[in-house]
Amino acid sequence: MRRAKITIVGAGNVGATTAHWCAAAELGDIVLLDIPQMETMPAGKALDLMQASPIVGFDSQITGTTNYDDTANSDVVVVTAGIPRKPGMSRDDLLKTNAGIVGNVAEQIKRSSPQAVVIVVSNPLDAMVQRAAMVTGFPKNRVFGQAGVLDTARYRTFLAMELGVSVEDVQAMLLGGHGDTMVPLRSAATVSGIPISQLIAPERFEAIIERTRQGGGEIVSLLKTGSAYYAPAAATTQMVEAIVRDKKRLLPAAAYCDKEYGVGGYYVGVPVILGANGIEKIIELDLTATEKAEFQNSVDAVKGLVEAMNKLTG
Ligand code: LAC
Repeated sequence: MRRAKITIVGAGNVGATTAHWCAAAELGDIVLLDIPQMETMPAGKALDLMQASPIVGFDSQITGTTNYDDTANSDVVVVTAGIPRKPGMSRDDLLKTNAGIVGNVAEQIKRSSPQAVVIVVSNPLDAMVQRAAMVTGFPKNRVFGQAGVLDTARYRTFLAMELGVSVEDVQAMLLGGHGDTMVPLRSAATVSGIPISQLIAPERFEAIIERTRQGGGEIVSLLKTGSAYYAPAAATTQMVEAIVRDKKRLLPAAAYCDKEYGVGGYYVGVPVILGANGIEKIIELDLTATEKAEFQNSVDAVKGLVEAMNKLTG
């Protein structure tokens, strides 16, 4: 059986760390691609990573390139290309530059890997996934965004830190855009099935929800020179694994929702089943009145972002 071919576009921190974790988990052969101006940099990172394989113990071919021909017929393409956030910059500030970059990347994917499942990671996420979907024209199940796995991981981490329990026992779900309006669901957070509300004071729970919403910005302000990459890469790797191993994971993803949740044709974070065909199902939850209002607020923010992008890109 042929190994999965995984292309990662963007050999920066998120892309290279995703390559690292995909290789370590033996998810397939990996092509790490960056723009021609980066010259041999992707090849250098790929060879360096390959040379870790005898020590760590994985069989993956890892190649670095600036030529999309080397990515031909990939099964999965991860798009991390774009400029990252700097301190004081909102994700929306990135809109114009990254819409141009992601649009070009999507053209190349369409040509070189017409059957691929595409995971968009570039920011502002909810707009970039819309851009990639429009430019590739791929079926909706094959283009989606990574944000919710990262945001729920932050939520789960903060809850585990607060409660002094293993992160493995904390489960959570989250809806909406990848921004300050995201909706960490209070009702879906549990420790081994026990609702969090039974284990934590309401004001502490609210503080954790707020910290989750600001989770990306917290890392940006600590790093000062860029944005998060370990957790974003781990989150992306989990989605790649769900696809190449056809795991049918139930995870949050930025998926195309039309009638679903009454969204009306935008990409927003919702729970999905993720397997070999990409998004195999969108799960519709019964939301409380508060959750509904918060979700609508987040969907409105995503619509605003997409409309701003469409104006900028013509
Ligand atoms: C974050 C940025 C990368 O959430 O969107 O860390």
